[in-house]
Amino acid sequence: MSLKGRIALITGCSGGIGAATALALVRQGCSIAIHYNSAKEKAQALVQTLQAAFPGVIAIIFQADLSDYENVRRLHSQVVDQMGHPDILFNNAGGTLKTIGRMGNIQDISIEDFENTWKLNTGSSYLLTQLCIPHMVEQQYGRIVFNSSVAAGTGGVIGPHYASSKSALHGLLHWIASRHAKDGITCNAVAPALIVETTMMSNPTDEMRNMIPVGRLGVPNEIASIVELLVTNAYMTNKIIVADGGWTPSAF
Ligand SMILES: NC(=O)c1ccc[n+]([C@@H]2O[C@H](COP(=O)([O-])OP(=O)(O)OC[C@H]3O[C@@H](n4cnc5c(N)ncnc54)[C@H](OP(=O)(O)O)[C@@H]3O)[C@@H](O)[C@H]2O)c1
Repeated sequence: MSLKGRIALITGCSGGIGAATALALVRQGCSIAIHYNSAKEKAQALVQTLQAAFPGVIAIIFQADLSDYENVRRLHSQVVDQMGHPDILFNNAGGTLKTIGRMGNIQDISIEDFENTWKLNTGSSYLLTQLCIPHMVEQQYGRIVFNSSVAAGTGGVIGPHYASSKSALHGLLHWIASRHAKDGITCNAVAPALIVETTMMSNPTDEMRNMIPVGRLGVPNEIASIVELLVTNAYMTNKIIVADGGWTPSAF
């Protein structure tokens, strides 16, 4: 229970990786602000799971469509009002908007698709982080983790819009990690490859499986355990931890 009493805001908790991470951080003693966008039943089911496993745990759900910055601001203020300032922020929510694949036609991703993907995956994560940092500085403690992707280093299997929205997070985290290291804030990213038991990867193909040296896709717990490491370890900062079954030996 090394995080006993800490408040963790996890975006995208209605998804596979967010839900697994919520469970991992509750096990460490955190209260969880459970964010979702459209899948309210999944968020509610997660609260029930957490409360059944850890009676008395504080887990409150918050809805926000993070493709709109006003909703990001509202999410932050609702969490602060109802739970207090987050000590831990996992910027996990994300989307692909469209998939054109590795051999797709760049003309099929309009500049609007590109910008909207960036807004959801990058801009909103930036804004939420910006909103959380002042309190973390004040208390000289904070943990920030971004959910990137191997696409940031390889181009990936979705398309150029998604890959670039994720690689942009890397420059952002490097700046924050360096700037705020002396404030007790660590800032890192996990970069998964293809993870099943998620809506995003609900129909993996044989081509995808064949790319992975260990011979299978990953599962959400394998990402959650990395986030747990990143938020419990005060000396690990400015890092991008890749979890990809051996797919990208030198991508980062
Ligand atoms: N699965 C993979 O293979 C894989 C690989 C690399 C990186 N990732 C990254 O992992 C993160 C988590 O995704 P996942 O794998 O757990 O997939 P998932 O099951 O599809 O979950 C995606 C989460 O993001 C939320 N979300 C999507 N659009 C949103 C919006 N407009 N506003 C607010 N929230 C939104 C979803 O909320 P609702 O369902 O409530 O709408 C859901 O909670 C994403 O950032 C993704 O890019 C995933």
